[in-house]
Amino acid sequence: MSCGNAWGDDLQEYACPSCGGNLDVTYDYELIRSLLELEPLFASGRTDIFRYLPFLPVADTDSAPLLKVGGTPLYHAVRLGKEAGLNMVYLKDDTGNPSSSFKDRASAIVLARARDTGARVIACASTGNAGSSMACLAAGVGLPCVIFVPEKAPPAKIAQLLIYGARVLAVRGSYDDARDLCLKVCGEKGWFNRNTGFNPFTREGKKTCSYEICEQLEWNPPDRVVVAAGDGNIISGIWKGMKDLHAAGLIDRLPRIDAAQAVGSSAISKTVHRLRDNGYVPAGDDWTGVSVERVEADTLADSISVDMPGDGLAAVRAVIESEGSAVTVSDEAILDAVRELAGLTGVFAEPSAAASWACLKQMSSENIVKSDDRIVCLISGNGLKDFSSARRVAGNPEVINPCPQDAFNAVARLGL
Ligand SMILES: Cc1ncc(COP(=O)(O)O)c(C=O)c1O
Repeated sequence: MSCGNAWGDDLQEYACPSCGGNLDVTYDYELIRSLLELEPLFASGRTDIFRYLPFLPVADTDSAPLLKVGGTPLYHAVRLGKEAGLNMVYLKDDTGNPSSSFKDRASAIVLARARDTGARVIACASTGNAGSSMACLAAGVGLPCVIFVPEKAPPAKIAQLLIYGARVLAVRGSYDDARDLCLKVCGEKGWFNRNTGFNPFTREGKKTCSYEICEQLEWNPPDRVVVAAGDGNIISGIWKGMKDLHAAGLIDRLPRIDAAQAVGSSAISKTVHRLRDNGYVPAGDDWTGVSVERVEADTLADSISVDMPGDGLAAVRAVIESEGSAVTVSDEAILDAVRELAGLTGVFAEPSAAASWACLKQMSSENIVKSDDRIVCLISGNGLKDFSSARRVAGNPEVINPCPQDAFNAVARLGL
């Protein structure tokens, strides 16, 4: 992909045989246009991601998962937006997917591909969500699933993996260590590898979020979409989805895509700033020679804690090509964002997911956005997945005796 070379449908590799970079799936958009004229999207009656079948790398829905993935709500968050002086903030709430994260979009497509190609076992390395998502959807169709996860992943995420019946290997090391091990074992065993930023089909599921956003906004695309980035595969998927719709004539302009990262895990942001500071101009689709910065990741937002992003170059391209921003925020700002999102909208996000709102607030304070910009903040994972961070921001309730006087005194202290 970074070298711009093209390969046929029969390619069996995960990475580009020429440059070793990540692959990207391409489509015939003229054909998609004519298919949509014959049968509009709503004709199938589906409300999940397979509603967008002409844009997906599967022939039919026979290998789709048992559970419904996608079709998540888009809320106009008026009270939340006011906090940052913004009138048109929308939340794309992906916490309601089957395993409670955005990652189900990718797992659904990878699962369909794995089943279509007769895979015996599916495996992946994960900071927690990609794995629990894969384990969840694989359980629904009875496909054996092996997950490599850093030992220090939040306990709720590890419990989720185990309860779905996945074989879990908790690696004494970082997410990057888990990813390297998974790659090695899959290669030896011939297992289907779902790794983010390695398997080209994860992006094909993730892009469906852009289709939904635009359809929910009646094909009038937002000005910006703010996306938390770790490996960078979600953000590259969001960008691809927008470009797909544009190429197929369903939207007439493209939004800016903004990367939201923690200060302690900012490989993508650092790279974007370095390229912009150096006045980098890509030669068409050829991005060879552009390297992504490696960092020593250290943030409580575990899902976006990545040393070397697996899909970093595609993420950097998404930001630069769309003329978006790459913003970093402290862990404290992320925790504040968790509390604000829950208190002002009812949407309970895990820290990594709340990073999008924390970064949007920062963009507003730096006048990068205008008060009437139509901005979508992606909320990519449920707050219950990281219970200890939630406890940290929520605090503890007052404990009282079971007597009315105590209750009335406590209520008075609450100012009610
Ligand atoms: C909740 C959540 N948000 C954001 C991300 C970042 O996605 P990516 O690693 O594709 O950048 C992840 C990845 O695990 C995630 O689980």
